[in-house]
Amino acid sequence: MDVTVVGCGYVGLVTATCLASLGHTVRGVEKDPRKLKTLQDGHCPIFEPGLAELMQENFASGALQFTDNMKEAVHEAEVVFLAVGTPPKPDGTVDMSYLEGAGKEVCDALAEDRQQCMVTIVVKSTVPAGTNRKLYGFLRSQTRAYVQVVSNPEFLREGSAVKDFLEPDRIVVGGESPEAFRMMRRLYDPIIKREETFMTMGWESAELTKYAANTMLAARISFMNEMTILCEHYGADIEDIRKGIGSDARIGPAFLRAGCGYGGSCFPKDVAAMEHISRAAGHESLFVHAIQTTNANQKKRFVDRLISKLGRPIERASIAVWGLAFKADTDDIRESPAIDVIRYLLERGAQVKATDPRAMNNMKAIFGDQVEWHGDPVSAAVETDAVALLTDWPFYSTLPFRKIAATMNQPIIFDGRNCLHRDVMRETGFQYYPMGRPAVEASLRLKARS
Ligand code: UDX
Repeated sequence: MDVTVVGCGYVGLVTATCLASLGHTVRGVEKDPRKLKTLQDGHCPIFEPGLAELMQENFASGALQFTDNMKEAVHEAEVVFLAVGTPPKPDGTVDMSYLEGAGKEVCDALAEDRQQCMVTIVVKSTVPAGTNRKLYGFLRSQTRAYVQVVSNPEFLREGSAVKDFLEPDRIVVGGESPEAFRMMRRLYDPIIKREETFMTMGWESAELTKYAANTMLAARISFMNEMTILCEHYGADIEDIRKGIGSDARIGPAFLRAGCGYGGSCFPKDVAAMEHISRAAGHESLFVHAIQTTNANQKKRFVDRLISKLGRPIERASIAVWGLAFKADTDDIRESPAIDVIRYLLERGAQVKATDPRAMNNMKAIFGDQVEWHGDPVSAAVETDAVALLTDWPFYSTLPFRKIAATMNQPIIFDGRNCLHRDVMRETGFQYYPMGRPAVEASLRLKARS
């Protein structure tokens, strides 16, 4: 099929590339001249495992092209994706101007002779309930071409977006046109393994499905994070509880990992938007509010615990921060817990030495020379009073801990992602504080006596 994707940001580029890999002819429209040049030179402007290879393959074969010419891009398109940003406004509502602007531009570019042949405009962006219906009304008033609008929320996770796209749990399509539903069914045919995974529903249901999914997942994380408080008080282990409840088929094991809080471009934004959506419906959601409060508190609690266990004043203490990205396998620091944790540490007068294999440049833009930057965790830990581990980069669990312990002022690790092994920490001489799990407190005392 002939497909246009408007906006070659994260979602747009993954969508365009994956659809091209399924055999469609895809044109990506990008207005930013620098990004367009990168794309037209065959380079992938973002870090996402597997994306660059797939993009280059389809770019080389001609299945995937990039342009800034909307008229050319939509000339033969059967399906036009709008994958533009819907950032939050200062009052917490969603800024719809990019979406409306892009939709209008598509309509202006559609030739008048497109009255017979339908164009399905697909909204990928996360938008509040009622937006697609409004957009449909608006676009129909803008053009004589035959357009339909469907909502098709994305559920991609950074780090596994290509796999998530090509092997989806479900494809949600919201709208009111059976013809548009059929077109979407045809578009996704190669990846629909079971008929039930392709779901059609009303616009509002599809829109709310996206918010509900992210809010539910964030709620699970906040619930487990709150449980860490009880675990630490009563001497229980959150990992045992995770297995204990995750094996209940009604609960399931995913998204129950406790830590120093969730971050990223979606959960914080979508949960906050959910609170506004509720308010707009005349409902003050204490539940949604609590998810966010628990998340904010967890980051603060991480630092408070570090301060209370440090064994020396935090003022002028030197803390190594391992991991800046909001999760592993990305350079994305949006709403990363590391931002708040570093800020709290600096406010309390600590010196911070930070490291991350991918996200350091992004974080430098926020903290500049307030923080000492290190290329690897071993050098970041030298002569520090504690390590704060904030991102679950897999290689952190296999570092030379004995060597690291020997270079630190005092070997203490606060594991905000519960990703290190307690036995290894004990055997390599560390005091070790995970979240909601029994700590190792003996090592330092042993070391001090010897
Ligand atoms: C999320 C949704 O999963 C995805 O469906 C949606 O399209 C976009 O938002 P993403 O932000 O890429 O994806 O990351 P995700 O893997 O969901 O992690 C989000 C945050 O939650 C991270 O900070 C992660 O560390 C944290 N997390 C995740 C936990 O703290 N515990 C868990 O068990 C899982």
